[in-house]
Amino acid sequence: MGGNEGADRGGTRNGGSDQNEGDALPVPVSNRVVRGTYDRWASLYGSTLARLEHPSKRRAIERLDPAPGSRVLDLGCGPGLTLPDLAERVGKCGSVYALDAVPGMLAESGARLRASAGSGRVSILRGDARQLPLGAGSVDAVVAFDVLELFDRPSLRVVLWEIRRVLAPDGRLCAVTMDRADTDRSRFLRGYEWAYRCVPGFARVGCRPFDVRAAVTEGGFRVERLERSRRGGIWPILTAYCRPHGDSQ
Ligand SMILES: C[S@@+](CC[C@H](N)C(=O)[O-])C[C@H]1O[C@@H](n2cnc3c(N)ncnc32)[C@H](O)[C@@H]1O
Repeated sequence: MGGNEGADRGGTRNGGSDQNEGDALPVPVSNRVVRGTYDRWASLYGSTLARLEHPSKRRAIERLDPAPGSRVLDLGCGPGLTLPDLAERVGKCGSVYALDAVPGMLAESGARLRASAGSGRVSILRGDARQLPLGAGSVDAVVAFDVLELFDRPSLRVVLWEIRRVLAPDGRLCAVTMDRADTDRSRFLRGYEWAYRCVPGFARVGCRPFDVRAAVTEGGFRVERLERSRRGGIWPILTAYCRPHGDSQ
């Protein structure tokens, strides 16, 4: 599916609205603009930043430990560095859905998969995190790596609702994100937020720290575990392991 535009129309989602964002900076551009950025930089992102970020995602997958035979959605899979690892873990009887809204990213994922052993278990899907092209209860785990922080609060509510919808009742969400709680004590994140606010064009990447625990709890998840770590010793990130609240299904 390529129909992302409906989710951008008719409202102020990711459009610099005056919605209460907690302490998170507002996302001053639409998700369409953010997608345009990732489309332009897909190849460069895959060979630079995504590589730097990858160890944190490998650790998250290791800890999530998807069972052989399980079905995993990689939401906003980007250039697909995580896909070979996921495919290996779910094994011959499992499946991985690699979903992104950006054609350039999906092309990168496809190219990476062609060189990997478990590629037959991976379905590449073009789709929007706010309108997932998957059935209710159709996956056992969702990984969202550096993706949730792209969305403003109203859009994030929709994304989390969609994740809950596609998860099996005992399913799990694993998210790696920048967390607002780290900003005050991190020079890196203070600098990042300064650049996001002040450097022309920077905010087109969409990502900024937000209150992860509050957002996922409001989105109907129970946080089972939070792990803080630093990429390259300087870039604080939070890995959240969550399950849907039984009463919010
Ligand atoms: C910071 S990158 C992270 C990519 C990947 N998860 C990784 O760990 O390398 C954010 C990704 O979200 C994708 N994205 C942006 N808006 C989206 C949307 N509405 N639905 C699905 N994916 C989206 C971008 O194309 C990009 O690949």
